[in-house]
Amino acid sequence: MAPSYLSIALIVLGEAFASQLPLFETSSLSQTHLTAKELISSKSLQDRIHVDNLLERANTLYSIAQLGEDEYNHPTRVIGSKGHLGTIDYIYSTIAQLGDYYTLSNQSFPAVVGNVFESRLVLGSEVPQSAIAMSLTPPTKKKQPVFGPLALVSNFGCDASDYLDLTSKIALISRGDCPFGTKSSLAGRAGAIAAVIYNNEKGALGGTLGTPSPDHIATFSISDSDAALYIKKLKDGEEVQASAYIDAIVESIETTNIIAQTKEGDPENCVMLGGHSDSVTEGPGINDDGSGSLTLLEVATQLVNYRVNNCVRFAWWAGEEEGLLGSDYYVSVLSPEENLKIRLFMDYDMLASPNFAYQVYNATNSLNPVGSEELRDLYTEFYTSKGLNFTYIPFDGRSDYDAFIKHGIPGGGIATGAEGVKTEKERQVFGGVAGDWYDPCYHQLCDDVGNVNLTAWELNTKLVAHSVATYARSFDGYPKRTGIEATAVLDVPLSKYHGPKLQV
Ligand SMILES: *[C@@H]1O[C@H](CO)[C@@H](O)[C@H](O)[C@H]1NC(C)=O
Ligand SMILES: *[C@@H]1O[C@H](CO)[C@@H](O)[C@H](O)[C@H]1NC(C)=O
Ligand SMILES: *[C@@H]1O[C@H](CO)[C@@H](O)[C@H](O)[C@H]1NC(C)=O
Ligand SMILES: *[C@@H]1O[C@H](CO)[C@@H](O)[C@H](O)[C@H]1NC(C)=O
Ligand SMILES: [Zn+2]
Repeated sequence: MAPSYLSIALIVLGEAFASQLPLFETSSLSQTHLTAKELISSKSLQDRIHVDNLLERANTLYSIAQLGEDEYNHPTRVIGSKGHLGTIDYIYSTIAQLGDYYTLSNQSFPAVVGNVFESRLVLGSEVPQSAIAMSLTPPTKKKQPVFGPLALVSNFGCDASDYLDLTSKIALISRGDCPFGTKSSLAGRAGAIAAVIYNNEKGALGGTLGTPSPDHIATFSISDSDAALYIKKLKDGEEVQASAYIDAIVESIETTNIIAQTKEGDPENCVMLGGHSDSVTEGPGINDDGSGSLTLLEVATQLVNYRVNNCVRFAWWAGEEEGLLGSDYYVSVLSPEENLKIRLFMDYDMLASPNFAYQVYNATNSLNPVGSEELRDLYTEFYTSKGLNFTYIPFDGRSDYDAFIKHGIPGGGIATGAEGVKTEKERQVFGGVAGDWYDPCYHQLCDDVGNVNLTAWELNTKLVAHSVATYARSFDGYPKRTGIEATAVLDVPLSKYHGPKLQV
């Protein structure tokens, strides 16, 4: 590790020195040049990153999340809540206070939010322990319990022909092959009064119906083992009575992305980065994604001390937790010309998990827009140069980079882990606790200021600074944009994720 660290350090020093030269030459010419800002350099920007500033911002964000208490009985920054409105005010006013370095804009877009107040499923005479109402499910009729025989749907329930007449019945459907929302719609169209989707893999199942449809019906998910007995009974021709009850709302609201772009720097060649401003309903979201969005705020604040050669564009997305709504919307309304100005997009979601691993999205040029792999290698070289271990994680659509790479824009990012379990091998490599989640408070009330590892957060914020500084200074050697088409790969399997919740 040491030799590579040394050589990187020398390169950084060499660059910093070179950047001073034009300043020395011109500084004698006029007063303005004496006061001109220094050209951005990675080391200099990284040196301005201090964990105290991040922690102070985290405390501020927590008190903003408490604005959600009136309506939700606990701190939250979910879209539509006062906690989220407070978050976007905080981001907006922080950037606005930096003067005229950035062009700041709001982008409003329509979103749907759901809230399940109460739910209960009974199969036969039992309440399956694993049963949960799926996200964005509608309520049962009149928000009252419904009763009917359970009916087993054929195959994966992805085709109308898999459904017999289900009038007044409760459909039991296997997970697999198509989105949960499709199954709920088809069951609804066949006349079912509720649906239960069971896992076709081992374990519990939770997920979202996705974009609401008038055909959706109240839908639960259950584990494979909870379903097994009833599948057998139905196959044996026995009748199983069931009841379902969900009190929930699904409503449309407007929410807002915030975009800040440097006034300086080549506007035809932008380095773009984003984090998400919203949390889930269940908690204040200080690690997810307070850590990423506050990192962006801190880097944007420190960047104003420098000149940039290329434009830098920061984004704080809303509605990530509902299925990447803000980033999807943003990319969907880009004209081809505007799309091509974005040289790459860097996603920063969950940078400070308490039981962290240094994770780098395994974004490659063979599967993703060319340039994604160069970005991946920038991250891994940084960790290696610091003598730190890192691990590759799938680049599978779970965060806001998804729309970018599907529209030809190279992407990548880093993370520190969500509900995955740290292995013994990873404990040896990163420390922490084997057998626990990387973030034991993922999507829960306890994702508060105590739920961040400051060592990981500071280090990763320096890496974010490094990524911004590197590309703000130069795209020399970085692949040019080739087009706005998806990727070279035509045969991509149906992604299980579009955002944090399972949808297939
Ligand atoms: C943008 O949103 C912020 C935060 O809610 C608000 O304070 C500001 O007035 C809005 N600006 C414009 C131009 O709409
Ligand atoms: C990274 O992705 C490439 C395909 O693009 C694959 O060949 C490689 O095995 C992956 N590496 C890891 C460690 O997952
Ligand atoms: C990196 O992982 C190795 C085990 O493969 C471990 O011995 C080493 O201490 C780790 N380095 C750091 C900085 O944690
Ligand atoms: C954060 O991680 C570092 C490095 O693994 C560890 O030494 C430290 O104790 C952790 N801090 C907290 C508050 O858990
Ligand atoms: Zn997140």
